[in-house]
Amino acid sequence: MRKIVIAGNWKMYKTQAETLDFLRHFLGLLSETPDGREVVLCAPFTALGALSKSLHGARVKVGAQNLHWEAEGAFTGEISGPMLRELGVRYVVVGHSERRQYFGETDETVNLRLKAAQAHGLTPILCVGETKQQRDAGETESVITAQIENDLVDVDQTNLIVAYEPIWAIGTGDTCESAEANRVIGVIRSLLKNPDVTIQYGGSVKPANVDELMAQPEIDGALVGGASLEPESFARIVNFQ
Ligand code: PGA
Repeated sequence: MRKIVIAGNWKMYKTQAETLDFLRHFLGLLSETPDGREVVLCAPFTALGALSKSLHGARVKVGAQNLHWEAEGAFTGEISGPMLRELGVRYVVVGHSERRQYFGETDETVNLRLKAAQAHGLTPILCVGETKQQRDAGETESVITAQIENDLVDVDQTNLIVAYEPIWAIGTGDTCESAEANRVIGVIRSLLKNPDVTIQYGGSVKPANVDELMAQPEIDGALVGGASLEPESFARIVNFQ
């Protein structure tokens, strides 16, 4: 059975105080959320402790946005799996296009991070997706196939979420058509060994388009950036019809 997982990716937004303010409004809006949906907030490292403490007993799970592959060591500025686990983190985004684009992450380091997440009991959310230029050149399938094959070498597919995030749709308001997102996610599924892996769509998911996206048979959830920053809009997405 594929699980429905709706995750907010806050990126570099929200102090601890802003996190607590968000929760005060957000948690009250989940009373009608159907049981089978997993709700995750992927916050900056500095807000994870506050988030975890305030969510104790709530149905929302805590996620981080990255991790290093070593458990500890001389890696200035990095955070490890055991450090995240201690804070109650359950999920971690790995290989987001912003990490690949601005921070030099490669399929090789993404693969190391995925294996480290699993080794420390975290569920990684692996992001894959093509640029506008690659899409226009007809390379969407080949780009996605290479990412999936290289990123998942020796990765356990029973503890994994994949997010299809076309880069041209991230933060642009330019959502991928739901039928096309469904098609590419079908391609991703055909490349996986485990048919039960949850595959999310990400890229300008909003209250106005979430119902249509989630009605697609291959789409098991959403990874939401901008629209996860406001309690009302993220609650509307979590409570998709
Ligand atoms: P967006 O971001 O919803 O703001 O487009 C999605 C993401 O980067 O995960």
